[in-house]
Amino acid sequence: MHSDELVRFSITIPEKLLAEFEASYYAENRPNRSEAVRNLMRGYISRERWRCSGGEVCATVTIVYDHHLPEVTRSLTAAQHDFGHVIICSTHVHLNHETCLECVITKGLSRDIQAFIDALRKIRGIKSLNVNVTAEL
Ligand code: NI
Repeated sequence: MHSDELVRFSITIPEKLLAEFEASYYAENRPNRSEAVRNLMRGYISRERWRCSGGEVCATVTIVYDHHLPEVTRSLTAAQHDFGHVIICSTHVHLNHETCLECVITKGLSRDIQAFIDALRKIRGIKSLNVNVTAEL
């Protein structure tokens, strides 16, 4: 049984990371360090809860990649065909000469959306992959 009693624990992080965190986070609203970390943990839990919900979710998946790597483009297309049953639509934007952004809007069971994301994470050459769950249905 867990209570709301406060516990103290220690973590180890690079000094530079701590300095950057304090400079950027405290600049906003300057909570104390403990409250800042509590807020981050609550946000993380809230963002990740959908993965084990078992229900239906709506999620946007934003992928940035270099289209000069032909395997990336091919693999992205193949993954989207494999998971066509949960993909509502996708939008492709040519950011610059070599970089593309693709936003895929999905809706389906959380385990299917997770499987789609897992498939995307296996593709080598993706620069960034962000998942934003907009609704637990
Ligand atoms: Ni493009």
